[in-house]
Amino acid sequence: MSELRFDGRVVIVTGAGGGLGKQYALFFSKRGASVVVNDLGGSTTGDGTSTKAADVVVEEIQKAGGKAVANYNSVEDGDKIIETAMKAFGRVDIVINNAGILRDKSFTRMTDADWDLIQAVHVRGSYKVTRAAWPIFQKQKYGRIINTASAAGIYGNFGQANYSAAKLGLFSFGETLAREGAKYNIHANTIAPIAASRMTETVMPPDMLESLKPEFVAPLVGYLCHENTEETGSLFEVGAGFVAKLRWERSKGAIFKTDETFTPGAIGAKWEQVVDFTNPDYPTGPSDADFVGLLEQAKQLKENPKGDDLRLDGKVA
Ligand code: NAI
Repeated sequence: MSELRFDGRVVIVTGAGGGLGKQYALFFSKRGASVVVNDLGGSTTGDGTSTKAADVVVEEIQKAGGKAVANYNSVEDGDKIIETAMKAFGRVDIVINNAGILRDKSFTRMTDADWDLIQAVHVRGSYKVTRAAWPIFQKQKYGRIINTASAAGIYGNFGQANYSAAKLGLFSFGETLAREGAKYNIHANTIAPIAASRMTETVMPPDMLESLKPEFVAPLVGYLCHENTEETGSLFEVGAGFVAKLRWERSKGAIFKTDETFTPGAIGAKWEQVVDFTNPDYPTGPSDADFVGLLEQAKQLKENPKGDDLRLDGKVA
């Protein structure tokens, strides 16, 4: 089988000075691409800056005979990162939105600054880089975008309300980009990786970290970004040699007549049906629900069941 190559392609990897981003940069450069190694060079919590992180990776790529250039801007100045690519290589084909930081705090202790900084780096940063690349992608009728979500975004995680909100937001960002980019051959996918890095080394035992090399995430990123790959708008969990796609699942649900008998108690009486996943749907768009058909079925009902209505007296709504 021949190797998937990226000759002539220009790849921007944000936060490529270490961890996962570094592995993506090495991966693409080994397969023929020119790489913009972006990294602000700060700490895991987003403090400080340094040119060293990006420089070390660029040096490693160049020593191995690859093509790479450093960029030290924050992803919040995404247009400057695209500028670096255009100046150095004259094009942009692939954007890997990978840069990220943490400001973990229980929600009780979370400050506006903890919230805002996480949204700024992850959501606004991915937006700014992608927004600057978008017209180039449209013009050349080719573009590949990877956004980075997280298990914390999909499932929630104690102490990460700010980070979870940002991370799942990036998936819906990608879902919409996939729709808007389809006619221009712009694909956008999102990954929820798990890998040993400075971000996770303090929260995972050493033997586990050994099996979670960041190198094990790069092949999926490479596959999704290849010109022959059709997949778009999707979300994948990836790490330790495991690759799986996630999708939405909707219970069959319950139908109610929309008259005065449609009360919280009536919903409570059919709650088992509302949450029953034995025969689910897998919706892929807002128009997947047959609202006209559901309305017809509702009309056929005589009345809703009379469940106990919950009383909210004395509670502030
Ligand atoms: P890392 O801390 O090793 O790498 C992140 C890089 O982003 C750092 O080199 C940092 O300097 C850079 N960076 C931070 N803010 C930046 C900014 N404003 N502009 C430019 N660069 C900036 O962490 P890791 O683990 O490699 O994380 C990569 C991505 O994967 C992040 O988005 C993270 O949230 C995500 N992720 C990682 C998981 C893991 O298990 N390692 C789990 C789930 C998500």
